[in-house]
Amino acid sequence: QRRFTVDTIAKLHAAGERFTMVTAYDFTSARIVDRSEVELILVGDSLGMVMQGHDSTLPVTVDDMIYHTRMVMRGAHRPLVVTDLPFGSYTIEDDAIRAATRVMAEGGSQAVKLEGGAQIAPTIRRLVDAGIPVMAHVGFTPQSVHAIGMRTQGRQADQARRVLEDALAVQDAGAWAVVLELIPAPLAAAITERLEIPTIGIGAGPDCSGQVQVWHDLLGLYDEFVPRHAHRLRTFADDAVAALDQYAGDVREGAFPTAENSSTMDAGELARALG
Ligand code: KIV
Ligand code: NA
Repeated sequence: QRRFTVDTIAKLHAAGERFTMVTAYDFTSARIVDRSEVELILVGDSLGMVMQGHDSTLPVTVDDMIYHTRMVMRGAHRPLVVTDLPFGSYTIEDDAIRAATRVMAEGGSQAVKLEGGAQIAPTIRRLVDAGIPVMAHVGFTPQSVHAIGMRTQGRQADQARRVLEDALAVQDAGAWAVVLELIPAPLAAAITERLEIPTIGIGAGPDCSGQVQVWHDLLGLYDEFVPRHAHRLRTFADDAVAALDQYAGDVREGAFPTAENSSTMDAGELARALG
């Protein structure tokens, strides 16, 4: 199957089909997504937390994003790959062009994502004019966690209107899709209805055009913090601990390795070697 592109995602959306995005940060996970039906990979700056162990996404650098994108690109041949621009890399428009160019040219991804609404719209316009497909991200924007707190955005009318206006502004600026994070489901539904571009929800209810989940949340790999919107379908970390315990026990008890895991040699050869 040919690789998904911004165009083919737009066609899915026009046909009224819901689609999915999942984060991936390395070759092995990208290979797994490649084998699945998920259409989009996000090399998210959530890697700062789930891969690097920071307590926010703020310390992530453009070099980190390029490093992880390169690993993902080696494993993902079917999904559309989008890379996050990290905190501070697009505050100034010229920096945004440089960061996005590097992420695409050196990393190899097909689009970038950045956080913000009306305020970042001129930057989105610059990027789009430079031939860089932009996915926007409004509502709760994790890079602003210290400014806005980790909470649902848009429960009150004035704030809800601002989220809607942000979504309209990024669409007008040329974004081809927009992530809606942590906003009330009815607001996300209303925004999705008003926009032409697809909305991709996380903690934004069922009526978005698509959904996005963090790999570690979906598979149960990260226990530091499990958000309410996590669709935890597996508990791989628990499975991994059980496997490691079994490995340790097998070695302690002499059950591993067995002859099957080992190679033999001619007794005469060994005797000559030791002789
Ligand atoms: O970095 C990330 O994983 C994200 C998604 C949660 C949308 O931005
Ligand atoms: Na992100």
